[in-house]
This record gives sequence, C-alpha cells and structure tokens, in this order.
Amino acid sequence: MSFPKDFYWGGATAANQCEGAYNVDGRGLAKTDVTTAGTATTPRGITYRLPSGETGLAPQFTPYPKDAKGAILDGYYYPNHNAIDFYHHYKEDIALFAEMGFKMFRMSISWSRIFPNGIEEEPNKKGLDFYRDVFEELKKYNIEPLVTISHYDTPLYLEEELDGWKNRKLISLFDRYTEVLFNEYKGLVKYWLTFNEINSLLMFKDFIHNMSKDDIANNYKALHNQFVASARAVQRAHSIDPEYKVGCMIAGACSYPLTCAPEDVLKNQKKMQDSFYYCGDVMVRGEYPVFAKRLWKEDNVNLEYTEEDIKDLKEGKVDFFSFSYYSTTCTSADKNVAKDGLGNFSLGSKNPYIQYSEWGWGMDPIGLRYYLNEIYNRYEIPVMVVENGLGAIDELTEDKKVHDQYRIEYLREHIKSMEGALEDGVDLIAYTPWGCIDLISASTGEMKKRYGFIYVDLDNEGNGTMQRYKKDSFEWYKKVISSNGEELGL
Ligand code: BG6
Repeated sequence: MSFPKDFYWGGATAANQCEGAYNVDGRGLAKTDVTTAGTATTPRGITYRLPSGETGLAPQFTPYPKDAKGAILDGYYYPNHNAIDFYHHYKEDIALFAEMGFKMFRMSISWSRIFPNGIEEEPNKKGLDFYRDVFEELKKYNIEPLVTISHYDTPLYLEEELDGWKNRKLISLFDRYTEVLFNEYKGLVKYWLTFNEINSLLMFKDFIHNMSKDDIANNYKALHNQFVASARAVQRAHSIDPEYKVGCMIAGACSYPLTCAPEDVLKNQKKMQDSFYYCGDVMVRGEYPVFAKRLWKEDNVNLEYTEEDIKDLKEGKVDFFSFSYYSTTCTSADKNVAKDGLGNFSLGSKNPYIQYSEWGWGMDPIGLRYYLNEIYNRYEIPVMVVENGLGAIDELTEDKKVHDQYRIEYLREHIKSMEGALEDGVDLIAYTPWGCIDLISASTGEMKKRYGFIYVDLDNEGNGTMQRYKKDSFEWYKKVISSNGEELGL
C-alpha cells in the first residue's frame, strides 16, 4: 500500500518564527517580541518594565513581577523580531517550496498583524493584504495552505491587560478575529487549524518546575476557554463556507510505560489521558471525557462553564485531527527513576531502545506508526501529521552546500512508518514536516537548531545575509514527493 495519490506532501512554519517584520505595516506586539534567546540548558527570558521605570528579565514561563509589562529593552537580542524575514522573502521561499513539489504549506497568521491589540473593531488592512498575497502566491503553484489561526502569538495586550485566555472575553475577541479571516480568505484557503498544540497548557505542569497549584488550575480554565473558542470557530467556518475544514492541533506528547510493571502501565495510561486525549476527546467528540473529573479533582480545578459552552463544544467538533510528532518519552511509577528523556515540551524517562538528538529529544519513528493507529482508531476522522523533524546543527560548506544525511535518515524512517500506518488502515491525508525552511526555534530562540530543507544564512545573534541555500535534503524530499513516497533513497 503506498501513499494515496492526492496525499498532501508539504512543510510547516509559524508566523512568529519566520515572518520577522514585527513592527511593520501596523502589526502589534506578541509575547515573542519581548522574548530573548536561550539555549538547550538556559531558558529564554521575557524583558519587562515596571511603572517605576525599573526594568528586568524573567525566565520564560515564570510570572514576571506584579504590574510589570513586557517591554523591548536596549541591549537585548530578540530573535523573533526579524526571524528569517519571510515577510519580505515569501515569493522566493514559496518558489523553493514549489520546486520541491509541495502540495501543502502550513503557516500561521499573526493575530496582532490583523488586530494589533486584539480588541480593535476593524482589522488592519495591511495585515490582511499580506496574507492574501501569500495565499495567492501559493495558489499560483497549486499549493494548498493549511492555516493555523493561533500559533503561540496571542497579542501582548490581551495577555497583559486582559489576563490572557483565563478571561472569557477572549472567546468573543477570537470569534471576531476568525470571522474576519473566514470571510476574507474564502476561496483561497480550505484547511484551518484553531490552536497550535493546544494541550501544551496541560503539559506545562510536568514540564515547568514548581508551577503553583493556582497556575495549574488556571491553565485548565484557559484551556476550556480555548476549547469553546475553537468550537465556535468550527461552527463559524462552516457557516461562512461549507467547504472549510477545521482541525485540532495537538502536541504529540506520546509516551510508553518504562517497563511492563503494571504500575508503570497504569501511570502511562493516565499520562496519555491527561496530556493528550483530554484535548483530543473534547475537540473531536465534543465533550469532556470521563476521566476529566478525576483529573480536575487531582488538580483542584473548579471548572465553571455555561450551558452554551456545552452546546458549543458539541456543535463545534473538528473535521480532522492533526498533531506534531517529534519524539516519545517513557513513564515510570518509580520516583527514583530519573526524568532525563526530553521531547517537545515533554519530560519523561529515557528509552534505552531509541536514539537522542543533540537537543536531547528522543527519536522514535516506529512510535509514529503506533500513535497514528492509536489516534485513528480512537477518533476515526482524517489525520494529518503537521509537524515532524530533526532539529540539528548544520554546516554550510564553502561551496554553499549542506550535507544533512542525518535529517534525511530521520525523515525517511518516519515516512516509512506513515506508510505502515496507511497499510494498517489509518486515513492519513497530509505530512508537513516542521521548519521546512530554517527558522527560529520556539523553545530556545536559537537559529542553530535547524529543521529545514532550505538553509538560511543567519546565526544565533542575528548576523547573516538571509540568503537561502538548498540542503541535500531538499533534492531528496523533492524525489520523495515526485514519486509519491516510493523513492525514499534506500
Ligand atoms: C512545536 C511548535 O512545539 O515544536 C513549533 O509547534 C516548534 O512552534 C516545534 O518550533 C519545534 O520545537 P523547537 O523548540 O525545536 O523549535
């Protein structure tokens, strides 16, 4: 069994990590614009200013001092400000995607480009025009856009003045934002994703050290508001254009029991429920799963919701399921077992049977087939793998080549696994590997953690020509696509 003939081969990016032009054409700020760079071992920081004028830097994901507001300060480097300047290079970049034969391009819209503070009555025309130009450029090459509406860049004003997604007001502001998008891009876009890695809010409770009980409980509330906002977006999309397909996007927080000890198996089942299925179940089945009550009790959550919320969730079920897949971790019930196995926002024990990347993320291609089966058999709606890839250090040789055989091997094994899942009967319709062109890393803000088929000449400090170069993986992926997954270069 090979890939279906209309399979969507492509690549994925996000606005804040590639566009740059952070203050151009009326765009407002997002939290990423006050975020500095970190490394695999030092967290990124948020720069802020207090009403007294005093300034400071707080590690990302820790609350900054009361009354402080995120601020751009002299003497700091903010990698997302210019990113890889897709804003001004999109024609050249899309031409390269087309040369590889892309059928789909996943990108996101920066909310603050459309509504600079998130609260305006009318959208920013220049922001709307930019995305229209991008979609039209994609259309020229028959590349289908897959558009994430919110990818880690809520307008800073909403985060700070309205307390972010904990505030129900964001539901209606998001509704207005999506209404504008769905009307504006009718006929140009078909596939939408509401929130990127929506489950990351729950994964943070393991991932972020010493998260307070209140913060954990608040994240459930924020998540509930996002569920409702997403469900309303699904309904609105369908009412504006019945051709629209809207999906969820869940971080593949996939894990195995570390051993076959029943305690490990049980603990892992719970982990999968808490960090993965909790979100999938609400968004695909339209209601909270039975284990939600257990989870709320454990985390001391008193979730307030209205009758209308319940109705919205039911009526706003997604059309397809999408997820990111980079790695797996292991779960142990034994507290003495080290949590030294890393993944995308996930933490667990190391798996002795898999290899680890330079950033410590476990690489587990077989796991992709396993999870595709798990997901499809649970939800039975079309599935997309919308992020996958190897963040690695690439070397640009003097003759401007990048020999990234390691990336080819990583991707090839995952593609073989997807082929296996198709044989198993999974209705897999798209594969958009992450960072198809090098971009700023979300977790570390580094440039040297590269995923692309296209090398961008830019370093961790923002030096470079921004020139694009094709890596070896570029030609390899081009063949994969033209042979519809037959020629994997084995
Ligand atoms: C996912 C995000 O978490 O993983 C992307 O959706 C991110 O935004 C990707 O870039 C890879 O993570 P990182 O930290 O290596 O950039």
